[in-house]
Amino acid sequence: MAQETLTLRNNSTGKEVEFSLLKGTVGTPVVDVSTLHKQMGLFTYDPGFMSTASCKSAITYIDGEQGILLYRGYPIDQLAEKCSFLEVAYLLMNGELGNKEEQAVFEHEIGQHAMLHEAMRSFIDGFHYDAHPMAMMVGIVGSLSAFYHSELNMDDAEHRRISAMRMLAKMPVIAAACYRHSIGYPYVYPRSDLSYCENFLNMMFSLPSQKYIEKDNYIDPVAVKALNLLFILHADHEQNASTSTVRLASSTGANPYACIAAGIAALWGPAHGGANEAVLSMLAEIGTVDRIPEYIEKAKDKNDPFRLMGFGHRVYKNFDPRATIIRKACYEVLESTSAKDPLFDLALALEDYALKDEYFVEKKLYPNVDFYSGIIYKALNIPVDMFTVMFTIARTAGWVSHWLEMMAEPGQRIGRPRQVYTGKDVRDV
Ligand code: CMC
Repeated sequence: MAQETLTLRNNSTGKEVEFSLLKGTVGTPVVDVSTLHKQMGLFTYDPGFMSTASCKSAITYIDGEQGILLYRGYPIDQLAEKCSFLEVAYLLMNGELGNKEEQAVFEHEIGQHAMLHEAMRSFIDGFHYDAHPMAMMVGIVGSLSAFYHSELNMDDAEHRRISAMRMLAKMPVIAAACYRHSIGYPYVYPRSDLSYCENFLNMMFSLPSQKYIEKDNYIDPVAVKALNLLFILHADHEQNASTSTVRLASSTGANPYACIAAGIAALWGPAHGGANEAVLSMLAEIGTVDRIPEYIEKAKDKNDPFRLMGFGHRVYKNFDPRATIIRKACYEVLESTSAKDPLFDLALALEDYALKDEYFVEKKLYPNVDFYSGIIYKALNIPVDMFTVMFTIARTAGWVSHWLEMMAEPGQRIGRPRQVYTGKDVRDV
């Protein structure tokens, strides 16, 4: 079969050039314009990457129209129902679900890498008690490059794997330490006899005098199950802003810990992972159902910067499959923790109101993954300013998988976009 192409014609010069169409396993065909400049002396202009594929990747697939999200080919709802977060992390990193033995070795290694260098304690202590935990995360994860100098030959696949495992293992430990620091409690060491989610809850909430007992409410099975679910749903989302940031930073050959710190910084923004914190603040500000119309009008007003947080998505245009799963989980968690939360009722009413509004219908704005995730985190006693940190822990699985994928690809080039220069033309001083 002849290769499909797209012909571009420059009307000024009459020159015509054919560009080949790249086809993935599924999804929209992509015009390969990498030789456009060479062949036609032109660049493309696409701010916000509205139509640009920045790389080839075999990790995650999204069909925004159909509301489909696949990790390595597996539908997100099946993974959410049947797997643990670390099984999903293994899948993302390695391409296949591990068998029993492979998974056990993987989890054992995560346990081995979880400890932080003891000197990091004084680094963490240097933050003011009221520092935002995301600010701490950016700094502390970036500082890992100063604490872990070994296994950093990025041409060595084993070194790259170890770096990735370190980040996945240490992220919940750093996150919990940020929280403990903010409340003035001693840091809790990670425990390799607990699962990833149990361990995190233990490091967050256990007290020095308390012995671990399975029935302790800070590691209750409902909390563990909910955390596991949220971590899976947040684990990867193909070329989102933070993952693209990690890839761009990595394309320079920069230290992997610094690259992940760059991803954390990108995730922090309210248009991205910071939305889960912003949703809770917004719901608290709206306060009561009768004020919903007022806030819907604000969101629609072009002169008002207010946006309905947790609504809209660049890719999903009918529904976000993750939001559907989380919405259902909210009912279960609130029911079993008997933590009736008026903000959940308010969120349901707000969703209902917005989905009937012409503006939201016409622009295809639906609740995204973060509209409901904060309600669950709140029910688990995670403080609001830690919500995006929770996202960070989960997304580390995706970041390191993309980093491993790109670093293993031959012929990597530095990411270097072009621009349309709009400044002054050359002039004399
Ligand atoms: N409230 C009100 N209007 C909105 C909203 C919203 N939440 N989202 C988009 N719009 C409007 C926007 O004003 C624009 O209108 P117009 O065409 O008249 O200029 C139109 O819808 C398209 O919006 P956009 O900003 O061009 O779309 P985008 O793809 O660039 O942005 C988004 C996507 C998620 C950044 C945006 O929808 C948004 O800011 N949502 C609120 C923040 C949020 O919930 N972010 C979490 C995203 S999911 C978690 C993650 O993956 O990080």
